[in-house]
Amino acid sequence: MKINPNQVDIIISAVSKEQYPETGLSEISLAGRSNVGKSSFINAVCGRKGVARISSKPGKTITLNFYDVDNQFVFVDVPGYGYAKQSKKEREKWGEMIESYLTGRKEMKACIQLIDLRHPPTNDDIQMYDFLKYYEIPVIVIATKSDKIAKSRIEKHVGVIRRELRLEPEDVIIPFSSVSKQNLDRVYEEIAGRI
Ligand code: GTP
Ligand code: MG
Repeated sequence: MKINPNQVDIIISAVSKEQYPETGLSEISLAGRSNVGKSSFINAVCGRKGVARISSKPGKTITLNFYDVDNQFVFVDVPGYGYAKQSKKEREKWGEMIESYLTGRKEMKACIQLIDLRHPPTNDDIQMYDFLKYYEIPVIVIATKSDKIAKSRIEKHVGVIRRELRLEPEDVIIPFSSVSKQNLDRVYEEIAGRI
């Protein structure tokens, strides 16, 4: 898979179903705790900074953002979960929008769940993974910020995530860094196999 960075564009920031675009392309959704590195991941895969906004304040993304990736597939950035400072009302609204998208969208072929490689998965991470499995949504786990971990310890950290999430054998987990681009080729392969 080769992406032309100049052919990547946001289609829409949707707040409701009626706004989901009809592109005829497969969609790959992205879920993860706020600040885990979703926007950075999108930018790395697309080969261009500034496709998705990178926030210094967590919890900034509050819409479903659809990105046309070189007319090959559509990335759908799902707002970060588990941001403590969200109000109860905001959390409920988050749930409805995500649930209806993730469980009802035919075009969505897989969900990339991003988890910070430095730490064991949080309860929110585990809940999200269980949710995806319950609805039989294919999951690709991307363990982010691998550049922050010594190379010799990466496999150990991957093992912790595998165990704590109780990953099933068919589930893929890829340590990844938006800074060093570690395993970017594996990410392309994985996406190409799902769309
Ligand atoms: P929200 O949209 O707020 O939910 O955050 P996000 O998940 O989109 O995270 P974002 O890409 O904005 O990154 C959050 C912070 O982590 C930023 O300061 C990034 O520069 C940093 N970051 C993201 N990915 C990496 C990575 O692979 N390595 C390192 N070292 N830092 C990263
Ligand atoms: Mg973001």
